[in-house]
Amino acid sequence: MSGWLAIAGLGPGAAELVTPEVTATLARATDLIGYAPYVARVPERAGLIRHGSDNREELDRAALALRLAAEGKRVVVVSSGDPGVFAMAAAVFEAVDGGDPAWRDLDIRVLPGISAMFAAAARIGAPLGHDFCAINLSDNLKPWELIERRLRLAAQADFVIALYNPLSKARPWQLGRAFELLRKELPETVPVVFASAVSDAKEAVETVTLREARAERANMRTLVLIGSSRTKLIERGNGRSFVYTPRSAGVVP
Ligand SMILES: C[S@@+](CC[C@H](N)C(=O)[O-])C[C@H]1O[C@@H](n2cnc3c(N)ncnc32)[C@H](O)[C@@H]1O
Repeated sequence: MSGWLAIAGLGPGAAELVTPEVTATLARATDLIGYAPYVARVPERAGLIRHGSDNREELDRAALALRLAAEGKRVVVVSSGDPGVFAMAAAVFEAVDGGDPAWRDLDIRVLPGISAMFAAAARIGAPLGHDFCAINLSDNLKPWELIERRLRLAAQADFVIALYNPLSKARPWQLGRAFELLRKELPETVPVVFASAVSDAKEAVETVTLREARAERANMRTLVLIGSSRTKLIERGNGRSFVYTPRSAGVVP
């Protein structure tokens, strides 16, 4: 039997948010590859070999997946959320691009998943209802100056901004710096949503204003959504609010 490689998104965490396509593909796999906590989300079964690895080993992981598929194995590489959003799909194609020319003709498929920004947005309403962008706040793979430039220009263009990887032990100051910069570009009243561990037992979702936003509210599993100047709150009787961005933008801010 000829091998194949599927790069699959496991969604934000809850089992019911894994797509049937991903579940069916995992059931046919011989080899499962990914960052160890994501591999652990897939139930063990006989005949499935698990290759969990450390977070920073994306290209090695991609090359292993391609080698195994070339040997005839049925390989699934897993990412959280969607595999094409700051995750393994790009790493696999980078490995194909620079690797063994035979890898180009392998059966490679990307299976979409629910990205954290969509799961987080759905929890509080429709903040992504008009134009938006996603920025990875990690400066591991790009210079911090580039991140600041993109934040400033995104705010000036009045996009809603989804911030992935807001902080970690090794990157403790970046989110606070981002808030300082954004306060110079946007009204301090725009809503900021901290959505942590969405769809897990530890889920916590909180909306504050940009003036009140503090980096300490975030952790490694937080998606931070910064509203545009048009993003609105609908106050509710239970003290919680819906957050939404109207679908039209009438004037240039
Ligand atoms: C390396 S990125 C992977 C993104 C993933 N491919 C996706 O589409 O969601 C990891 C970041 O995604 C966000 N994230 C992942 N799962 C999340 C969840 N359940 N709740 C909130 N944010 C999450 C956090 O910002 C975290 O730092």
